Amino acid sequence: MRADAATLPDLTDLAFWAAPESARLAAFAHLRSLDRPVFFAEPRVPLLRPGGGFHALVRHADVLEASRLTAVFSSEPAAVSPEPPPWLPMVFGRPLVNMDDPRHARLRRIVSRAFAPRRLEALDVEIAEIVDEIVTRLERRGSGDFVADAARELPIHVICSMLGIPRERRGFVLSRIDVMTEYSGVRGEMHRLATARLLLGNLRAIVDLRRFVVGLGRQRRRDPGDDILSALVTADVDGERLSLRELGSFFDLLLVAGNETVRNAASHGLVLLSEHPGERERLAADPDALMGTAIEEIVRMCSPIVQFRRTLTRDHELRGHPLPAGSKVVLFYGSANRDEAVFDAPDTFDVGRRPNPHVGFGGPGAHLCLGAHLARRELGALFRAVLARLPHLRTAGPAVPLLSSFDHGIVALPYTV
Ligand code: HEM
Repeated sequence: MRADAATLPDLTDLAFWAAPESARLAAFAHLRSLDRPVFFAEPRVPLLRPGGGFHALVRHADVLEASRLTAVFSSEPAAVSPEPPPWLPMVFGRPLVNMDDPRHARLRRIVSRAFAPRRLEALDVEIAEIVDEIVTRLERRGSGDFVADAARELPIHVICSMLGIPRERRGFVLSRIDVMTEYSGVRGEMHRLATARLLLGNLRAIVDLRRFVVGLGRQRRRDPGDDILSALVTADVDGERLSLRELGSFFDLLLVAGNETVRNAASHGLVLLSEHPGERERLAADPDALMGTAIEEIVRMCSPIVQFRRTLTRDHELRGHPLPAGSKVVLFYGSANRDEAVFDAPDTFDVGRRPNPHVGFGGPGAHLCLGAHLARRELGALFRAVLARLPHLRTAGPAVPLLSSFDHGIVALPYTV
């Protein structure tokens, strides 16, 4: 089925992502009701986009199938969406998320130790200190922008601390990440010039960060510490060491994946709790019992990552629909998380929802989010402190959404305590 029927939304058009959230949710509900995945053509942009198109996987079961069958649904050449230019990995290396097993599994093992529950427990003290600083700032200011004052502060300090990046360099790192992620999700023929300009800015930001990490990596090779960066530069993969290019792309991924997502989940969390005072009171009355399910529900409802893509390694039938080898599919997590076939009252925010088999952290499979437990700890600590110390913290106006088809982001969010 092609996307040319008048009733179908065009997921490749930036205008679709600029539409109000309610319109987008309705469009995805319609796509879910169709008996097969819809194909969307993507324009080829010389040097920037390979083009072609993709089938949109919008049902929960389809996202699960594509996440599980990694031998059929490959993350190479790229899982990120829109697909980066084919020359990008040759220059900057291929990040873990765009890699298949067995190399993916070996690399993932190196960093996964840093995300093991015992290591994360040790990080709780640091997370509590960062949260304490944030809540004190919100209390002192009384009103302002929640993204600037709270949401963007939490993950950058946590991930930089794990990577062993000194505090005084974190402002620089964050500014580069902000530029890098501007490119994500921008798409469409009409935006070709804007895209080229953004891509140039993006490349400059990657180069700046690369210089920074190479310097830091050399220093850690000489004098390793107890951080992920030291683990990476001293690691042995397939009998070889990581090249500085591979180290750089790993570093970019951890910084980007660990920042935007938590930042946006925190902001959406405040919106949801402000819009649902009953659920907020329920959570505040018993955070020990409900914080875990509340965080899962925030991630389900807001789905901070909109989409990832896969490329078929061979012909495959999905729900009886043939997908040829070489074709692409895009997994729409937010749509799967509202699938009425899986979730009762999917549009209702329920802090005690159980079961909640959402795919906000990706579907079960080799690429399931490496930082999911860390994200849960950060968000849990933040909302616990907010409910305990700032019982009247609320949004004070509408959120300014990020125009992107990749990050379900919030650029600014007025608050008042
Ligand atoms: C609410 C917060 C988060 C959300 C919603 C989220 C979402 C996701 C999703 C959907 C994927 C799946 C990619 C795929 O299947 O192709 C993923 C992978 C990944 N995430 Fe997260 N993430 C979050 C937080 C974090 C944090 C805090 C970190 C690290 C500090 C992190 C690091 C990663 C990495 C390294 C991968 C790639 C794993 C692989 O390819 O094996 N994420 N994340």
